[in-house]
Amino acid sequence: MCGIVGYIGHQEAYPILIKGLHRLEYRGYDSAGIALINPTGELNIYKTKGRVSDLEEFCTGKDISGTIGIAHTRWATHGEPNNANAHPHYSESENLALIHNGIIENYSVLKEQLVQKGYHFHSQTDTEVLIQLIEYIKTLNNVDLCTAVQLALGQVIGAYAIAVMEKGNPNQIIAARKSSPLVLGIGDNEFFIGSDASPIIEFTNKVIYLEDEEIAIIKRNEEPKIVTIGNVEKTHEIIQLELSLSQLEKEGYPHFMLKEIFEQPNRLRDCMRGRVDVTGNHIVLSGIIDYREKFLNAKRILILACGTSWHAGLIGEYLIEEICRIPVEVEYSSEFRYRNPIIYPGDIVIAISQSGETADTLAAIEQAKQQGAFVYGICNVVGSSIARNTHSGSYTHVGPEIGVASTKAFTAQLCVLAMLALCIARERKTIPETHILELLNELTRIPNKIERILQSDDSIQKLSNIFTYAHNFIYLGRGYNYPVALEGALKLKEISYIHAEGYPAAEMKHGPIALIDNEMPVVVVATDNDMYEKVISNIQEIKARNGRVIAIVSESDTVVKTIADYVIEVPTTADCFDPLLTTIPLQLLSYHIAVNKRRDVDMPRNLAKSVTVE
Ligand code: AGP
Ligand code: GLU
Repeated sequence: MCGIVGYIGHQEAYPILIKGLHRLEYRGYDSAGIALINPTGELNIYKTKGRVSDLEEFCTGKDISGTIGIAHTRWATHGEPNNANAHPHYSESENLALIHNGIIENYSVLKEQLVQKGYHFHSQTDTEVLIQLIEYIKTLNNVDLCTAVQLALGQVIGAYAIAVMEKGNPNQIIAARKSSPLVLGIGDNEFFIGSDASPIIEFTNKVIYLEDEEIAIIKRNEEPKIVTIGNVEKTHEIIQLELSLSQLEKEGYPHFMLKEIFEQPNRLRDCMRGRVDVTGNHIVLSGIIDYREKFLNAKRILILACGTSWHAGLIGEYLIEEICRIPVEVEYSSEFRYRNPIIYPGDIVIAISQSGETADTLAAIEQAKQQGAFVYGICNVVGSSIARNTHSGSYTHVGPEIGVASTKAFTAQLCVLAMLALCIARERKTIPETHILELLNELTRIPNKIERILQSDDSIQKLSNIFTYAHNFIYLGRGYNYPVALEGALKLKEISYIHAEGYPAAEMKHGPIALIDNEMPVVVVATDNDMYEKVISNIQEIKARNGRVIAIVSESDTVVKTIADYVIEVPTTADCFDPLLTTIPLQLLSYHIAVNKRRDVDMPRNLAKSVTVE
């Protein structure tokens, strides 16, 4: 949550920081601010409620000079989004400025102590407490800024990525992290910091990922020095990123979300590249090969994730149980960690996360590791905390996903889970080799089939016009398509703010059917699979109560077409790959409804891309 960016070098900092904030805006966007030290050593802070563009407007005509600065786009945790709560925050003397991503859990105790010592607070944030504490310690002990930061962080409970600057010292930024991400960019005599690499990549592809409780002392014209909170010096390998700038642009699409929906065929090809070779009948996931015995002997798999990634996990459960015959349990990371879970020796934990930074999932991984589990990560963001804190794993390789509503990352998670299940099934010989080969072949045909679905975009857009003003939606599916119903409902909620619920279709009669009337649109995934006949009965139940049915059907369908009010066709595939296809029209339907309602599709209210707080 929230985007942090910083710069020190030979260029004017303001344009670099503003561009960086725009790139990071998808992480949090309720307010934004910037701190700059001008050539005469003055520390200027400008901040405002609203978007980065509001900040730009606010800065018009102000002194924005300086070759050093830090900037922030906020996702409020403590205190409403207003000007006072926006970052950066000044210290009491206004000599120090701080930006922060995360939560200082013991802020109220610290605040009380500081108030008693005569400190004044101008915001409701937990963040302001930290900068006041740093200044208090600095003054009391007469130490330099880095030492004060070290001592202050030693007193803090919680999560943070921070950057601090000091009036009169235009040559230094101190940055630190714990449980919130922070990347250091190494340019040519210039240095960058970012919550992720997106604000940095335009200038350099050389980065260092800070570890928990590490502090970077970034000085003009010097190599950055990294120390721990306890002042132990650390060395870090400089990593060369392969991210390209075009991956961060909309490339002609009106929204990142639409671009990301349309990218899915190619991104799934990328995801399978080098892993699936149909002619050679190979399927390779190096993360599994290295731990072959563990997967071969696994007694149980636990899948941990949140939100959309949790939906992918549910589909993974069906798939792994069906073809690998290993029992699977899927849990919300946030629930798992607080219920003293039972982990047996030989259990495998699969953690799924697009961002690789989700605090709940990270903490659940720690819990699982402490209890002796082997943890396999499925992440999209290369070098992310989850990728670095798991024993093994696979990247989804779909490039940056900027739209807050996850689309291509979800289908790629399904693709990785499919490859993983096929690898394990082959090792464990749980399904015949001929069946593995058929599935392998079918998986490689999925991108072409998605291309066919995307051709229906115009008709899905027309359909969306009919339902734009509905107040509620129900989504139904069975078997592999039950999690698709959950995901379809989540997508609609997230970006259109229409209330929507997903259910297993057969559960409807146990309660939700009470909601059905002629105003209730019901989206039913009714493709030609093992559950087809059963789903037809569920559709009949809805029609008998005058519900309006939008059905996702197979191209070959003849029956549902005659019962449903509207249909969207998808090609047929193996049952276990159905979600890779049936998800696509639901993404498009949500997108078009949200656009019709003039919602901010890429940055929906109250949400943030990377949920780095509990
Ligand atoms: C997806 O559309 C959501 N924005 C959200 O549910 C997301 O999937 C969830 O926060 C988990 O994120 P992660 O995959 O980065 O861990
Ligand atoms: N807890 C801080 C606040 O509410 C930081 C939130 C963020 O990460 O954006 O201001």
